[in-house]
Amino acid sequence: MSTFILGIESSCDDTSAAVICNSKILSNVVANQAIHKKYGGVVPELASRAHQQNIIPVIDSALKEANINKNQLHAIAFTRGPGLLGSLLVGSSFAKSFSLGLGIPLIEVDHLQAHILAHFIQDNPDDKIPQFPFLCLTVSGGHTQIVLVKDHFEMTIIGQTIDDAAGEAFDKAAKILGLPYPGGPLVDKYAKLGNPEIFHFPEPNMPDYDYSFSGLKTSFLYKIRDELKLNANFIEENRDDLCASIQKTIVQVLIKKLEIAAKELGISEIAIAGGVSANSALRQSLLDRLETLRWNVYIPKFAYTTDNAAMIAITGYLKYIKKEFTDFKATSYARKDSRV
Ligand code: KG4
Ligand code: ZN
Repeated sequence: MSTFILGIESSCDDTSAAVICNSKILSNVVANQAIHKKYGGVVPELASRAHQQNIIPVIDSALKEANINKNQLHAIAFTRGPGLLGSLLVGSSFAKSFSLGLGIPLIEVDHLQAHILAHFIQDNPDDKIPQFPFLCLTVSGGHTQIVLVKDHFEMTIIGQTIDDAAGEAFDKAAKILGLPYPGGPLVDKYAKLGNPEIFHFPEPNMPDYDYSFSGLKTSFLYKIRDELKLNANFIEENRDDLCASIQKTIVQVLIKKLEIAAKELGISEIAIAGGVSANSALRQSLLDRLETLRWNVYIPKFAYTTDNAAMIAITGYLKYIKKEFTDFKATSYARKDSRV
């Protein structure tokens, strides 16, 4: 039987809708909000307003692209949290109204679980999916976690950042270099032209499987500040090497802890997820370990790395199978621990 589910994602600054048929994505439409570039970061108030403008056209396009009628849908899945509250409310209110109007179940999705469960999308029958238990390094603009995944919905965070997320480290380094928000993809782009061995930045020394990126950001800031005093063109003359060097350090920090966790837990099924999993150096260093450590690595398609509704739709499908539906009283939550 074919089950069609509409996924809606609106947790931060991307409005997205996707239609899935069982595990196969039929459409995945994302509207980015350019407005935030002007401010060097996401402005929550502007994000919710842009979601209001985008949500209906985005859902309309997702249904058209999937070539299905709204009456063919079996359920509506939406991001309940974590994220910006005003942004979440737009997606959840729309999802509730739509499911009520169509008389079909509503399914809540946790954004971070969804980043991980994107690995279960099978656009082609031979797409490889991770075997349980696996470790997933979830790296985004808001989170950096090593998650032990024992089953689709049985996940334990075994390590995480105590301050900045990896994506924030990329974005802040980019901002120091005068690059527009979000700077992560630009650091990746310029790093390809630079030498990662030119500049050295201290790696944090954190216990267990935890991370910290705020010290790295500060040392990057101080380095640039000191060099600019000697040479006003320091950034222009060294941009590519600076990007390559900071990227190498961030990736090394991320991978080292993942390696320790994999070794100590005896797990060789390793996945990455979230916006930073689009980073070419991180992807490559995982592929290198396919050879050296004999890991089975799972690297998401680019479309499923940064925020997207395809990951909400697959999570919705996995919950639909278990008949895990949501009450209309469910409220959005900004943080995991503020969940009600
Ligand atoms: O998952 P995501 O879209 O949103 C959150 O849930 O936070 O992640 C966005 C983050 C941003 O910090 C962005 O700069 C980073 O992912 N990012 C990258 C790359 N593409 C996106 N960072 C490094 N290299 C990339 N290629
Ligand atoms: Zn995300």
